[in-house]
Amino acid sequence: MKLPHPIPYQGSKRSLAPLIAPYVPKKVATWYEPFAGSAAMTLWAAHNQIAERYVIGDVLAPIADLWRVIINHPDHTAARYSEVWQEQMDSDEGYFNAVRDRYNEQRDPVDLLYLICRCVKNAIRFNTKSGNFTQSRDKRRLGMRPEKMAEAILGASMLLSGKTEVYSGDWTSTLATADASDFVYMDPPYLGTTIGRDKRYAEGLPQDRLISGLENLRARNIRFALSYDGMTGGKEYGPPLPDSLGLTRLLLHAGKSSQATLVGRDEETVESLYITPDLGDAVEGVIRRQRAIQTELAF
Ligand SMILES: C[S@@+](CC[C@H](N)C(=O)[O-])C[C@H]1O[C@@H](n2cnc3c(N)ncnc32)[C@H](O)[C@@H]1O
Repeated sequence: MKLPHPIPYQGSKRSLAPLIAPYVPKKVATWYEPFAGSAAMTLWAAHNQIAERYVIGDVLAPIADLWRVIINHPDHTAARYSEVWQEQMDSDEGYFNAVRDRYNEQRDPVDLLYLICRCVKNAIRFNTKSGNFTQSRDKRRLGMRPEKMAEAILGASMLLSGKTEVYSGDWTSTLATADASDFVYMDPPYLGTTIGRDKRYAEGLPQDRLISGLENLRARNIRFALSYDGMTGGKEYGPPLPDSLGLTRLLLHAGKSSQATLVGRDEETVESLYITPDLGDAVEGVIRRQRAIQTELAF
């Protein structure tokens, strides 16, 4: 079955889910995803009935609001999306900007869903001071069709409703109640997107804050997997995390970099997955499984 994925999101872990899956415990009490974005791994976990409860959170309140309407009011959300999407067919080029103005005034999460679907690279941008959505329209596509969106919204709601809490705020507060019976999947903004020119997320995450938060989770015996940094065509993003955290670093072959392909370069993207030692039987076994899956995906 194809997993529902209603929020197209730059940096989504949708295609990497099968590679991360082998390192996730089979059953946990609560599954946490505190850097949720489009929550691709939580949708995967709910589909595979990994947990009794799910907690997703994001520092961007508009993303949390969008998740709440998708999970709790799927029919209304799908119907409104269809209206907003259809209206672009009878409107002129200014339609995207008109929806953006309306969103910035009224903050309707369904308007935001349309904007995410139609904006450049599905890459959300908010003004840090006003909180206004600032990204521009991608002229080449119309955004996810309403029928496909309805299926994704209803599917996501079916997987998550009645067992999911949605938080907006810093990851450390989302994880305040986690304990050793739980599991946390984390996909923070990578260093390459936090510092330097490509400030992809309105809220970056300096590495020292990430490390102190991870130390706290380790002290509380919380099992986690963390996607962090990587390389494309041999170019590394950011220094690895310190050994003192006692994590195992795995390298996942994420396939061809679409960014590089766009500019005519043939480059492989490799992403790091850091796991706590209690995950996976032994690193040897873990790596064997990783190879098997990668071979499977190659065919
Ligand atoms: C790489 S994206 C996660 C993508 C996600 N794995 C998916 O499948 O779509 C990182 C997310 O972390 C959020 N974020 C950034 N800083 C944060 C913080 N301090 N606490 C919680 N969320 C944060 C960003 O808004 C963004 O949605």
